[in-house]
Amino acid sequence: MSRLYHIYNILILIYILCLSPAWAQSVEPTTLAVPRSAWQASGETIDRRSPAPKEETTTVHRRTIITATNSTSTGMPKPFDTLSYNFANSSTCIDFFAKWRANTTISNCNAISLLIENSNAFFHTLNSAAATSRILDTSCSADVSKCASIMTRLAADLLEAENCGDDYENGNSVVKGTYRDLVAYEPIYRATCLTDPSTQKYCFVDAVSNSTSPDDYSVYLMPLGTPLTVGDVPTCNKCLKETMDLFSTWARRDGQPIDSTYLPSAKIINAHCGDGFASTNITVGSVDARAGAGLAVPLPNLGIATVMALVLGLMLTGLF
Ligand SMILES: *[C@@H]1O[C@H](CO)[C@@H](O)[C@H](O)[C@H]1NC(C)=O
Ligand SMILES: *[C@@H]1O[C@H](CO)[C@@H](O)[C@H](O)[C@H]1NC(C)=O
Ligand SMILES: *[C@@H]1O[C@H](CO)[C@@H](O)[C@H](O)[C@H]1NC(C)=O
Ligand SMILES: *[C@@H]1O[C@H](CO)[C@@H](O)[C@H](O)[C@H]1NC(C)=O
Ligand SMILES: *[C@@H]1O[C@H](CO)[C@@H](O)[C@H](O)[C@H]1NC(C)=O
Repeated sequence: MSRLYHIYNILILIYILCLSPAWAQSVEPTTLAVPRSAWQASGETIDRRSPAPKEETTTVHRRTIITATNSTSTGMPKPFDTLSYNFANSSTCIDFFAKWRANTTISNCNAISLLIENSNAFFHTLNSAAATSRILDTSCSADVSKCASIMTRLAADLLEAENCGDDYENGNSVVKGTYRDLVAYEPIYRATCLTDPSTQKYCFVDAVSNSTSPDDYSVYLMPLGTPLTVGDVPTCNKCLKETMDLFSTWARRDGQPIDSTYLPSAKIINAHCGDGFASTNITVGSVDARAGAGLAVPLPNLGIATVMALVLGLMLTGLF
């Protein structure tokens, strides 16, 4: 074996070693699913330290007044447009938020799941059916599988100790809510992009514009971890049926917040719309997202094993 070949092998080894932190990170999405106990039936993590922070994520849950106004603003609403600067304890977490919020690859996905509970501008946009439709035109034109993998990766990165992991563990409501919103990107995308076949209008727009039926909007909070409550009477129409069909498939997947909110909500809907309107014959959280059903990020484990074997092979043939 030539000397050059040995040097080549050593260079490869050094290169591989330098890359390894990046690999470690890319493996993370495979362990994305947080312990199922994190989502109890209430949709909130059991939090012994501070009972208060629940409020922050529930302020926007209820919509009350609907007045048709013509919004003249054309820009897309941004998530966390009213977030206080020191929302978290760790500066690494605050930096992480600043970084991803400024990243256009991420913001170009125009994730509705990040807006529903975290955007004052979006909340106001819901007063206008026309403006809401325009926003959906934009968010529904995103490449959903690409954006789903971006959001999944971001959710995993969020939980890293060097980002927001400590604040997540401490029950920080912004961090926990953001994690749920990121994980729920695709079910919210699919649900908000559904249209009523007879009118060609977005079901979501019909829901937010129906002033006689405010519960129609509450349906969209299920994937974010908020179930319907007893007494809610959403309109029993085709949109609701299709939305619940869609949600039932997402509720089967492990690690989705909707796996704890779907069944109680489906029962409330069936009490109002009739037995069997929404499927209740499902096993929630039974489909391992890591088996490829839920997460769009491919499993990198095999790739690493192969490369490692290759490197070892090179070293053995080259150095010895
Ligand atoms: C919005 O503006 C258009 C034209 O400027 C008008 O025709 C329409 O009625 C307005 N809609 C509402 C809900 O005010
Ligand atoms: C910061 O940490 C303390 C305890 O370590 C906790 O009580 C407080 O709620 C935390 N603040 C935020 C904004 O997370
Ligand atoms: C922006 O986000 C994308 C997708 O997560 C990532 O690949 C890219 O490196 C990020 N860009 C910056 C400047 O952080
Ligand atoms: C609005 O809600 C009422 C009451 O549920 C329902 O009868 C009506 O069909 C709804 N309108 C639309 C457009 O969904
Ligand atoms: C529920 O689902 C199982 C498996 O898909 C099926 O065998 C069973 O007949 C279903 N039960 C009802 C009441 O639909």
